[in-house]
Amino acid sequence: MKATIVTLPGDGVGPEVTAAAVKVLRNVAHRWGFQVTVWEYPVGGASIDRFGVPLTEETLQACKRADAVLLGAVGGPEWDDFPQQIKPEAALLALRKALGVYANIRPIQTFPALYHASSLKEKVIAGTDMVIVRELVGGIYFGKPRGMDTSRGWNTMEYRRREVERIARMAFRMAASRRRKVTSVDKANVLEVSHFWREVVKDVHRDFPEISLEHMYVDNAAMQLVMNPRQFDVVVASNMFGDILSDIGGAVTGSLGLLQSASLGDSGALYEPVHGSAPDIAGKGIANPIAAIASVALMFRYTFKLPEAGDVIDQAIASTLAAGYGTPDIAYPGCKTVSTEDMLSLILHAIENIQEERKNGVII
Ligand code: IPM
Ligand code: MN
Repeated sequence: MKATIVTLPGDGVGPEVTAAAVKVLRNVAHRWGFQVTVWEYPVGGASIDRFGVPLTEETLQACKRADAVLLGAVGGPEWDDFPQQIKPEAALLALRKALGVYANIRPIQTFPALYHASSLKEKVIAGTDMVIVRELVGGIYFGKPRGMDTSRGWNTMEYRRREVERIARMAFRMAASRRRKVTSVDKANVLEVSHFWREVVKDVHRDFPEISLEHMYVDNAAMQLVMNPRQFDVVVASNMFGDILSDIGGAVTGSLGLLQSASLGDSGALYEPVHGSAPDIAGKGIANPIAAIASVALMFRYTFKLPEAGDVIDQAIASTLAAGYGTPDIAYPGCKTVSTEDMLSLILHAIENIQEERKNGVII
C-alpha cells in the first residue's frame, strides 16, 4: 500500500510538532508495511513571508492531490494586524473549505497520570471520554454578508439543510460505535439558525432510533463541560460553538497540547492539533508533540483504515504519560519534565515495546 501525505508545518511551534508527528507516521507506516511519501509546503505566516499570501495555489493543489494533509499551526503576533482575508488563519479556513472537510472530529479523553494537570478536580474529570463533532465549513465562519468599516462590523450565521444533515449523520454514526448518545448544541432560544439546526438534527435522528439524542443550549453546554464532562459521548455543534467548546475540552484534559483532530469530508482529510502556534514557546524545543502525534493516530484510523495502528500510537502516548513523563505544559509535581524531542523518543520507544508485546501475544 502507498500513500502521499502533504505536511504544512506553518508557524510557531507548528514545525516542531509536525516534525515529531512525521517521524511517528513513518515509523508506524513502516511497521505496517506501507510506503508513505511526504511532501512539505508552506502555509500561514511562513507562506506570507515568502510569497505574500497565506495559501498559494501550489500548496492548495498539492493538498487536493494528497491522500491526507497534516497541518501544524498557523498564526502569530507578526501577522495579527493584517486584514482578515490575508491573515495566516485565512489559509486554514480556505484549506478546510477547498478540501470540503466538513466534519471536524475532536476526541477528548483524560489520562489518569494527568488528572492533576487539569485545573478541574480529579473527581470531575476522571474517566471523561467524549468526541466533539464540529461543523467546519459553514456557519458564521463563512456566512455572507460579512465585513467591517469604521462604524460597524458584521457577519452572518446561516446553515442549509444539507449542511446540518451531513454533520448530524456523522455524529449519529460516530455515536453508534460508542455509547450511543448525541448531544446537539445550539442557541435555539435566541437564534433562528439554531432553531433550524435543532429541527434538522431531529429529522436525521429518525434514521438512528438506537441513538439517544438530547439538545443543549451552548451556554449550558459550556457549564456542563466543566461541571460534569462524563455525561457526554458525542457532541455535535456548529462551527463556532464547536470551536469554543473544544478549547474547554483542553481545560478538561489538562492541556490543549494533548488534543488531536481529524477533519473529514467526502474525499479529502486534514489532520491537525487543536492547539495554536504558541509563539511564546516556539523554537525552544519544549512544545508538546502529543496533539500532533495523536492526529497521526487518527490518520491511520480514518485515512489508512488501519485502526490497530492508530491504537498502537494512542497506547504509546498513554503509557508514556503513565510512566510520569510530560512536557512543561502538562508538568505536575513529581512529573519527569522532558523536551519535545525526548517526548518523541519516549513515544517511539513505547511503540516498539507495544509491537514486541503484541507479537509475543502479551496484549490481546
Ligand atoms: C481551531 C482554531 C481555528 C478556528 C483558528 C486558528 C482559525 O481556533 O482550529 O480551533 O477557529 O477554527
Ligand atoms: Mn479553536
